[in-house]
Amino acid sequence: MNISITKTTTPKPKPDINNLGFGQYFSDHMFTMDYIDGKWQNAQIVPYQNISMDPATMALHYGQLIFEGMKAYKTADGSIFLFRPRKNFERVNVSNERLAMPPVDEDFCLEALCELIKLDADWIPDKPGTSLYIRPFMFATDPFLGVRPSQTYKFMIILSPVGAYYSEGLNPVKIYAEDEFVRAVRGGVGFTKTAGNYAASLKAQTEAHDKGYSQVLWLDGIERKYIEEVGSMNVFFKIGDEVITPELSGSILSGITRMSVIELLQKWGVKVTERKLSIDEVMAAAENGTLKESWGTGTAAVISPIGELNFKGNAQVINNNEIGELTSKLYDTITGIQTHKIADDMGWTFKV
Ligand code: COI
Repeated sequence: MNISITKTTTPKPKPDINNLGFGQYFSDHMFTMDYIDGKWQNAQIVPYQNISMDPATMALHYGQLIFEGMKAYKTADGSIFLFRPRKNFERVNVSNERLAMPPVDEDFCLEALCELIKLDADWIPDKPGTSLYIRPFMFATDPFLGVRPSQTYKFMIILSPVGAYYSEGLNPVKIYAEDEFVRAVRGGVGFTKTAGNYAASLKAQTEAHDKGYSQVLWLDGIERKYIEEVGSMNVFFKIGDEVITPELSGSILSGITRMSVIELLQKWGVKVTERKLSIDEVMAAAENGTLKESWGTGTAAVISPIGELNFKGNAQVINNNEIGELTSKLYDTITGIQTHKIADDMGWTFKV
């Protein structure tokens, strides 16, 4: 499929690189294509603009919508790299399959993304800790109020220059283990990147914020006992010399940064285990001093140290609320590989 390209005639002013925050600014162009009559068509890159929708657009009513999060980095010599982009487009199709949405051509999406990034290359910030966040998303567009899979869809990619996801930056975040609300259950859609998972998290997140915590740590929806993930991240705990992360049970996201951390730890000879991990085990380890470090992983958050964990009012400080040695090494290695400041001997980066 050809991609038609219409360039903007009125480029936008660039935001202040020192105050990007997360997800507030959008580049000059966007990619869009439509699924009509059983095939993808109308692939185009156009100036970033509003889209017009019928009020009955199905995604607005029944949430048949999936998205992804990726990042592009500019290296010291001006080259542009993506981090494991094929994994994201594979996950688009994992989400699509569960949400009864049609698959996309993963290679074509990557090609379209590269075209878009080349056009908006001057939107990639190059200050340490910044990147160009990429948001592919796809939603049901039939104007219809009956509950069934839509027959038409729109797939889009937008770009946003970003700094750190958390206002804390690389300082440890405080996490609140939620014991009333649940995010997902096995057999549901917890493993997909669909909007409803995030909508379901907002009430608990707001309540945690009101108590002074950045994010919610979710427990499993059945026994309310086993750790699942943190709002926008997968989660790791270093107990003694072992690193433990919840196994992929069907209700948590199979994070690409999570996968990369596991592969790095294995390469470094650090014992890393994916298994069921109860909140009681983690709280006991915090109390007896064997919980050495904890961190979250995600595309937006990268590696985010966790400095405090609160469960039922028992607040335990982790590693004196400082970034741990292993957390720090993981952050430096992953961001170093992403920005090509250190050699990519894992073969993870993809040149645009
Ligand atoms: C990401 O890490 O890219 C995410 O999608 C998490 C969040 C910003 C929703």
